[in-house]
Amino acid sequence: MGKKTTPSVIYFTLKGIVAGIFDTSVDLRRFQRIWKMIQGKVGCVVKTPFFRSGGQNLRQFMTSPVLLKPRKQKHLSESILNDRKSIAEREIEVGVLLDNTHQLLLNSNGNLEPVGTALDGLFGRLNEQRLSCTPEQWQMLIKICRSHPLLSTIHEDPFTGRAFAKPRGYAGDAELIDLIYGPEDRVPEPTATPLGLDIYRYNSSAPAAEGVRARRGFIADLIDTTSNEKPGQHILAIAAGHLREANLTTAVRRGRIGRFVALDSDPISLKEVERAYGSYGVETVPASFGVLLTNRLQIGTFDLIYSTGLFDYLNVNTGRRLVTTMFDMLNPGGQLVVANFLPGIRDIGFMEAFMDWKLIYRTRQDMVDLTAEIDESEIGHLSLFAEENQNIIFLRITKK
Ligand SMILES: C[S@@+](CC[C@H](N)C(=O)[O-])C[C@H]1O[C@@H](n2cnc3c(N)ncnc32)[C@H](O)[C@@H]1O
Repeated sequence: MGKKTTPSVIYFTLKGIVAGIFDTSVDLRRFQRIWKMIQGKVGCVVKTPFFRSGGQNLRQFMTSPVLLKPRKQKHLSESILNDRKSIAEREIEVGVLLDNTHQLLLNSNGNLEPVGTALDGLFGRLNEQRLSCTPEQWQMLIKICRSHPLLSTIHEDPFTGRAFAKPRGYAGDAELIDLIYGPEDRVPEPTATPLGLDIYRYNSSAPAAEGVRARRGFIADLIDTTSNEKPGQHILAIAAGHLREANLTTAVRRGRIGRFVALDSDPISLKEVERAYGSYGVETVPASFGVLLTNRLQIGTFDLIYSTGLFDYLNVNTGRRLVTTMFDMLNPGGQLVVANFLPGIRDIGFMEAFMDWKLIYRTRQDMVDLTAEIDESEIGHLSLFAEENQNIIFLRITKK
């Protein structure tokens, strides 16, 4: 687990709190506050048998409506307040925002500070609009963004430009994700106009990009930790992209992994995996995860199966089927990990308007919902862990 997690402490703390609630008065508000604090600060680790004996099963506990209430209420009251604004008012507001941002960018003269100020304002205001208007109004505001000259200026940033252009025919290809890993991997910056490069520097350090880097770091640490505990394990990465977590692990380079399979539907991405990591024994499987769901592809069983950057595109039914299939492909004692963006990051408005990059954001409850079709008696542990900036959440399940 991540650095901050102390599973046994959290388990016993949680057990104590829940026991208090069930034994004495049902102070759900107090429990909810503590539960949110635990989730927010250190992730959570819950041992399923306890909840069975405590009168609730794990999924009921995690998805209980009282835990869902605050966020929904906040969002609702915000929308009601702001919905009073007409679309005409909003169009004017967004038009002024786009004009001002454009002027600031064009006059930045190679200084990062005004670029940061301009983009901070654009990201923040677009997200405020998105959160406070109806989906139909938001689509109209997106159209305004797309027809403003600011769009082509912003697309001088190769990251935003590529996301919008989708040269591989889909959003979030591995080349694009490499532009996020680039600063951490110390690879040369991409070619762009001076202003484009400044915008890239801003974007590649924005919360969404930070989250993607933290996600890779989490997986790399997990591979190293589990390979130390159990050398020779078999690992499967689903929607592996360029498998860049392999850059950060020592287990790959020191031959501590028995079998490492990278599955992705994009054969161009897998060519890069072969080039970069083939000599370390990494195998590639060019296939859609869909063939796993229907048992049309037998690639073995694994001790660790993970998927990052895929569930953000999957609806709940497909997500559940894939989580169940991953679980079925685990060896006894094995574990699966899936990552997803949490709702509420500031970048969403900008991503949808200027990158045409629409993701499915999942709450903690949504993540637990993905386990609905797994036989609970086969689950050893189920845990949720948000990376330190609270942009990305991980669901981790071990098999008995
Ligand atoms: C955002 S990238 C994530 C790459 C990598 N896991 C990471 O975190 O850096 C999404 C990847 O999902 C792959 N992908 C999309 N649809 C897929 C499918 N149906 N089956 C397998 N891979 C898929 C894409 O080719 C792409 O490499």
